[in-house]
Amino acid sequence: MVKTEEIRAKDLSTDDFIQQKAKEIAELVGKGFAINALSGGVDSSAVTMLGHKALAKNLKTYFIDNGLMRQGEPESIVSIFKKMGVEVEIINAQDKFFKALKGITGPEEKREAITQAFYKDVFGKLVKQSNAKYLLQGTILTDVDETVAGIKRQHNVFEQLGIDPQEAFGYKIIEPLVQLRKDGVRKVASALGLPEEIYNRMPFPGPALAARIIGEVTPEKINTVRKATSIVEEELKAVKAFQYMAILHQDRVTGMRDNKRDFGLQIEIRCWDSLDARNAKSTRLPYETLEKLASRMTKEVPGVVSATYNIATKPPSTMEAI
Ligand code: XMP
Repeated sequence: MVKTEEIRAKDLSTDDFIQQKAKEIAELVGKGFAINALSGGVDSSAVTMLGHKALAKNLKTYFIDNGLMRQGEPESIVSIFKKMGVEVEIINAQDKFFKALKGITGPEEKREAITQAFYKDVFGKLVKQSNAKYLLQGTILTDVDETVAGIKRQHNVFEQLGIDPQEAFGYKIIEPLVQLRKDGVRKVASALGLPEEIYNRMPFPGPALAARIIGEVTPEKINTVRKATSIVEEELKAVKAFQYMAILHQDRVTGMRDNKRDFGLQIEIRCWDSLDARNAKSTRLPYETLEKLASRMTKEVPGVVSATYNIATKPPSTMEAI
């Protein structure tokens, strides 16, 4: 039975939580072997440290390079963990993910394609090769809530939907963070000794930059949204917001460049104030900041002729675009 009663951040004793979860993981895995995938987000980072505390060499950690991550992300995350004494192996699976996403335009279908590529194709094979019987995973309570409520199919939720991972993929999943929300996970990650750039890291979705493209995901579109993301992250770094992002739209709009008509791309910028991602509103950014963003988007991202700022609230919007 999966434990899902919430532990609120204010009631959380991080030391007790870490001791208890490390003990549970060690008991479950026994003399066996577990694997996990690190993305560098606060959830998977906390699970990686917790798992290594519990299992040491009996946990093997991979970083799956799905081709959908931000600029330089795989290398920088692996080097942070190396400094913490945790070896992480990068698996280049870019082709598999782009193949799985080819021709798919629906948001839920894209999420499902990524889930299947990750768990069945890439991870399933790694688990088989390694003989691991357990997969450690950083699912949190908000992922479960939104998936069960049918709002958004989070890539990492199975049992709560009646899917048996053992049957579907051949391994058991351990979810030590499933009673926490993001604020609780940040406390645990800090208590585990992770650096602030990790425990205070801005959330980033499981489907990565694919969640920021409307319509079909291709390597070219990922390049475009990756450049736009770097600009947004650079310009808004100093803003105390919950999360900020760039979204590449599918529709083209007429623009003009060098006195010629240019039927170009549109980038939507979102910057959210939120406590726990359940509700959010757009940050009141200074107009000068917005102008600078628009100017850089249209000058530095090839093909972009339009930049907009989203001022809707969640709900009815969600934070990501898919
Ligand atoms: P939404 O778009 O649902 O996002 O309002 C709420 C928060 O969750 C993040 N998000 C995800 N995180 N896997 C994740 O681990 C996912 O599939 C996923 N989808 C959205 C999103 O970035 C925001 O912080």
